[in-house]
Amino acid sequence: MNQQNWGSFQTLLGHLEEGVLTLIINRPDKMNALNQTVLSELEQAIEQLEQDQTIQGVILTGAGEKAFVAGADISEFNGADKKTAMEMASKGQAIFDRLEKNKKPIIAAVNGFALGGGCELAMACHIRIAAEQARFGQPEVNLGLIPGYGGTQRLTQLVGRGKALEIMMTGNMIDAAHALQIGLINQVVDATALMEESKKMMRTILTKGPQAVARVIQAVEACFDKKKDGYQEEVTLFGQCFGTAEMQEGVSAFLEKRKPKFS
Ligand code: COA
Repeated sequence: MNQQNWGSFQTLLGHLEEGVLTLIINRPDKMNALNQTVLSELEQAIEQLEQDQTIQGVILTGAGEKAFVAGADISEFNGADKKTAMEMASKGQAIFDRLEKNKKPIIAAVNGFALGGGCELAMACHIRIAAEQARFGQPEVNLGLIPGYGGTQRLTQLVGRGKALEIMMTGNMIDAAHALQIGLINQVVDATALMEESKKMMRTILTKGPQAVARVIQAVEACFDKKKDGYQEEVTLFGQCFGTAEMQEGVSAFLEKRKPKFS
């Protein structure tokens, strides 16, 4: 298959193949920890992939076999004051928010440790597929900290209040099977099948109407946006589907008993 390198970054690698961008956090000697360079480059990459018409979906993963991302880079916490810490959290939250609100589907292929900011990053993706050896956790309390990149909110949304509190208050790691059981992730696969299974899920999504997929993301987002009435948002988005070429093709294909061809 025709795989092209995408983007030019110090801490990220990008490969583009048939409309699917595989974006790799690339600091394997530091367990792909998120330092300020990674965060800034992630922001740039999100901006670029939003503009890039050749990209239809994104798979986010970590370099190496051990870690997806083992958290924010702890060495950057040393000596930081309250103001810097709040700026760090706001920056991280804004980037992860932009990922979550992206109109293109984003799958986290979790290949190893997803701790702290790594778990938060995976949670900001639309779907999470994990290798059997992946481990999840919010161990910030071990450092006298709490999650700062949206973890207190997204973990609670995904697994409910009781489990979220347990994970964040104990700081314990959980394995992929447990993460699946509580709804933190969507699927567990053998490590050797991780990228293929992630691509398979992506290919399924990409056979659907891209505008409809984007509207699903937008409608679900509205459920968690306190400023929005999710049901009203759904009515509006449902209405927007009507009259699109995409909907005409989908409905015609069904009536003509053929597969739809979305562009
Ligand atoms: N920030 C900065 N550096 C990190 C890091 C992080 N979050 N996680 C791992 N690293 C670095 C280690 O310091 C080490 O660097 P060194 O080789 O220069 O000493 C390297 O990555 C390898 O990690 P190491 O701890 O030796 O690997 P391990 O297999 O023994 O343990 C972990 C793996 C993930 C369990 C362990 O690294 C860990 O607990 N990391 C911190 C997790 C965390 O608290 N995340 C939340 C941060 S808010």
